[in-house]
Parts: sequence; structure tokens; C-alpha cells
Amino acid sequence: RGTVTPKDFQSSLVLMTFCFHHAATSCSKSCYCSESDSGGKTVRCSNLQLTEIPQDFPNDTRRIYLDFNLFTTVPTNAFAGLPHLVELDLSHNELSQLEQGAFRGLGSSLQFLDLSSNKLVNFNSEAFEGLQARANLTNNPWHCDCSLQMALPHVDLEPASLKGIVCQTSDPEEIGVQGLSFLLAPDIDLCVVMKRTTDVAMLVVMFGWFTMVISYLVYYVRANQEDARRHLEYLKSLPSKPMQPSPDE
Ligand SMILES: *[C@@H]1O[C@H](CO)[C@@H](O)[C@H](O)[C@H]1NC(C)=O
Ligand SMILES: *[C@@H]1O[C@H](CO)[C@@H](O)[C@H](O)[C@H]1NC(C)=O
Repeated sequence: RGTVTPKDFQSSLVLMTFCFHHAATSCSKSCYCSESDSGGKTVRCSNLQLTEIPQDFPNDTRRIYLDFNLFTTVPTNAFAGLPHLVELDLSHNELSQLEQGAFRGLGSSLQFLDLSSNKLVNFNSEAFEGLQARANLTNNPWHCDCSLQMALPHVDLEPASLKGIVCQTSDPEEIGVQGLSFLLAPDIDLCVVMKRTTDVAMLVVMFGWFTMVISYLVYYVRANQEDARRHLEYLKSLPSKPMQPSPDE
């Protein structure tokens, strides 16, 4: 018969819920997805006023466009579980901070990382651990100092990427690296002032020790002189022994 029993209705409802649920999780809910001809998904979340990086990207995503949003930070493991991610665009955001391990898990797959046109000031090499991608680091207010200089040799990013670090401010300020790409600025040593400071500190400490040793020597000699003088006076004050034999004997 053609009547719909409550049981049928219930099971179709369950089926419908399952279908919607599946559709929602098969791609990120706030973004647009497309399947490329070569396989793998492209997720577009550009210009959506997003303040937090979505956490629901499909695990076979190859490209993610997150440009022109309002992100201020990339948290640790923000893109974990995306072993096929090749390209990640985070340009034109408000990023001032990249947490340690922000791109963890992308080391073997990611080829292009766009961080240009953000608010990055300090270079945190721990954010880029294991990443060998080509990165666009231009258009950020980079602060170049000794810690940046020390960090760069330990970064695995494609070396040419680091040319994008154009210093807006620097420490020491007067070294003249502002407006230059730090990697291309010849003969600039941002750690030299620190070395000089430690040298001066060392000199002061050595001088201190030297002064103490000299003072002690002077004190020692003086004290001994005093002792010797007192000893002499003591000897002088002793009753003098009669040296000549008595005339009675
Ligand atoms: C994605 O996750 C599903 C299960 O959630 C799994 O079956 C599949 O193999 C994963 N695909 C990739 C490319 O890791
Ligand atoms: C890096 O980004 C800037 C601005 O976002 C763009 O003009 C430039 O072409 C990019 N460079 C590369 C190598 O893609």
C-alpha cells in the first residue's frame, strides 16, 4: 500500500540529516570549495571578514586562500591534518604574530606561503619549523635586530624568500638598514653593538678584580709594616740585660 508509516518518515529524516551533515563537513562551512581537474580541493575564503582561521578544511585540500581577512595571529597547528596542502595564501591580513609551530605538519607538502601585506614585526623562526616553502614576506613592518640576524641561518624556507624581509625599523637604529632587504644589505652586523657591550662589561669586571687584588696587597704590606714596627718597639721596651761582668767577681 502507498501509505507512509511514521517509521518510514523517521528513517527518511535520519537519511536527510545524514546527507546535510555530510555536505556540511565535506567542505569548510564559511568558504567556497572547488575540485580541480588535477584532483584535490581548492578552498576560497578570501575577503570574508574572518577573524579566526577556520578549522574545518577537508583533509585532501591542496590550496587555501585566506587573503583579505582580519586574522591577527596564526595559532599552533592551525593547518594540521592537511598532508596535501601545496599553497596557502594569508596575505592582506592583520597578522602580527605567528605562534611556534603555526605551520606544523606542512613541511613536506607546502610549496608556496603568502604572508605579504601583514603586520609582522618580529621574525619568529619557530613558526616556520621544518617548512621549506617559498614564502612571500614582503610588505610587513619588519624590525631588524640581532635576534633576527641570529635566527635567519636556522630557517629552512627557500633562501630567496628571506629577501622579502625589508627592515622598517632596526636596532641599532643608526646602522642604516631601514628600507633595505636585510639579506641584501652588505656588511651589516646587527649584533656588533651587543658584542661591544659584553666586551665593556668584561673589562669592568676585570678592572674590579684588579682593583681588589691591588687593595688587598697594599693592605697586606701596610699591616705587615705595622706589625714589624710594633715588634721592634716591643723589643726596644724590654729591660736591657747587663752585658758587662760585675766587678765583684
Ligand atoms: C581523509 O579522512 C578520511 C576519513 O576521515 C580518510 O578515509 C581519508 O583517507 C583521508 N584522506 C587523506 C587524503 O588523508
Ligand atoms: C609578494 O606579495 C606582494 C604583495 O602582496 C606582491 O606584489 C608580489 O608580487 C609577491 N611576490 C611574489 C614573488 O609572489
